[in-house]
Amino acid sequence: MARRTRIKDLFKSETEAQYTVMGWVRTFRNNQFIALNDGSCLANLQAVVDFENTDAALLKRITTGAAIKIDGKLVASQGKGQTVELIAQSIEILGDCDAEIYPLQPKKHSLEFLREIAHLRFRTGTFSAIFRIRHALTFGIHKFFNDRNFVNIHSPIVTGSDAEGAGEMFQVTTLDLNNIPRNEDGSINYKKDFFGKQTNLTVSGQLEAELGALALCDVYTFGPTFRAENSNTSRHLAEFWMIEPEVAFADLHDNMDLAEDMLKYLIQYVLDHCAEDLAFLEQRLIEEEKQKPLAERSEMSLIEKLSFCLEQPFERLTYTEAIEILKNSTPNKKGKFQFPIDKWGADLQSEHERYLVEKHFKKPVILTNYPKEIKAFYMRMDDDGKTVRAMDVLFPGIGEIIGGSQREERYDKLLKRMEEMHIPAEEMSWFLDTRRYGTVPHAGFGLGFERLVLFVTGMSNIRDVIPFPRFPGSAEF
Ligand code: 4AD
Ligand code: MG
Repeated sequence: MARRTRIKDLFKSETEAQYTVMGWVRTFRNNQFIALNDGSCLANLQAVVDFENTDAALLKRITTGAAIKIDGKLVASQGKGQTVELIAQSIEILGDCDAEIYPLQPKKHSLEFLREIAHLRFRTGTFSAIFRIRHALTFGIHKFFNDRNFVNIHSPIVTGSDAEGAGEMFQVTTLDLNNIPRNEDGSINYKKDFFGKQTNLTVSGQLEAELGALALCDVYTFGPTFRAENSNTSRHLAEFWMIEPEVAFADLHDNMDLAEDMLKYLIQYVLDHCAEDLAFLEQRLIEEEKQKPLAERSEMSLIEKLSFCLEQPFERLTYTEAIEILKNSTPNKKGKFQFPIDKWGADLQSEHERYLVEKHFKKPVILTNYPKEIKAFYMRMDDDGKTVRAMDVLFPGIGEIIGGSQREERYDKLLKRMEEMHIPAEEMSWFLDTRRYGTVPHAGFGLGFERLVLFVTGMSNIRDVIPFPRFPGSAEF
């Protein structure tokens, strides 16, 4: 095809010169002004059509959604709203679009409606901005770790283990479900299955990252993870992406420092690289907030909220300290929490996490040293035998954005914990080997990528920050 200039580049190009652009028509006003978008940036290019000298049949085909190619001359714009415009000299229709039935009309559509047409929502300003920011964050994450000499490990997607021990796995099988091979005792004969054993989609790449860290020292994974938890919330997906750094010769404090540095770096990265998209999403949020009652409106705009997180050192406290604060909090005393906090040991819900962040400390919080009963088997036991060296990073509007820990590197203690929690040690001998052969203190965490994108874009539903969300009852596209 002919060479095209991206619209983003065109805005910075010399005027009084010839260019070819290709993209999709957003609107066509008065048979004269085409707003053209090619996804390279938020802004549309205004192309001016000489309608008196253009074939009427062609003009009719310039409809919202049509893909077109325009050759023309770039000039300084006379009109308001743009600095340059393209004087169209020839227009070619690349792909017609029947505007009568095209679902994306040039008007405001609800996010719920756009979710139903996720295959087309990339073509809206909001979603193109979200997915450009998602890309920038992906790139920023690799840059952050690469600059610090971390090695990216591709952990497997099909595994035989349940890293989190929560049993929320999607099974992977090629067995004929209408004719399942059985052992004599009636149990399923997985020897006949594809891998000769029971397998599932991974819930986390951590266990494999630990193997890498105990040789390469600083590693990270960035891959899809899957959880068959039946939580239909605005913060859970069945398929989501996780970033899991793992560091040898590191303890919980090093882990907290790395998490805080990484989050701040990524927020700054987006502020530096996505200014136009952020400004657009901020405006969108302001409009949305106007629909809410005054008391529920956010005190800060999106960009203020991002900058605020950069300026504050994250508050660090233990689970035990947090429980005291929550127990004595006004919403707890007034019975406002759906899950009242009455005693040490309670698992924290999103409402408690958000209270701590948004009302009590008014900044990001890192909670540490949780009761062992509510955390995974691999976390390092504290000397009191009651708590483990866990850490959760809590963010405004989100709740938990990161979960991590210092790992139990002592063989006997790890084995004992696995037995207590009914983790099949014989199938995990490869994991235990690291504790047999040159074990060292190490730590790591998992950042939920979509929760980060949610925070940075100011969107409120996680289904709107991944192109094709998977959740209970839905695996469209
Ligand atoms: O706290 P989680 O379960 O921790 C782990 O999986 C550890 N193996 C991580 C590690 O130490 N390497 O999950 C980590 C993060 C959560 O804090 C949350 O942000 C995100 O993953 N997450 C989800 N995001 C979207 N949908 C879900 N269903 C999620 N479950 C967890
Ligand atoms: Mg967690």
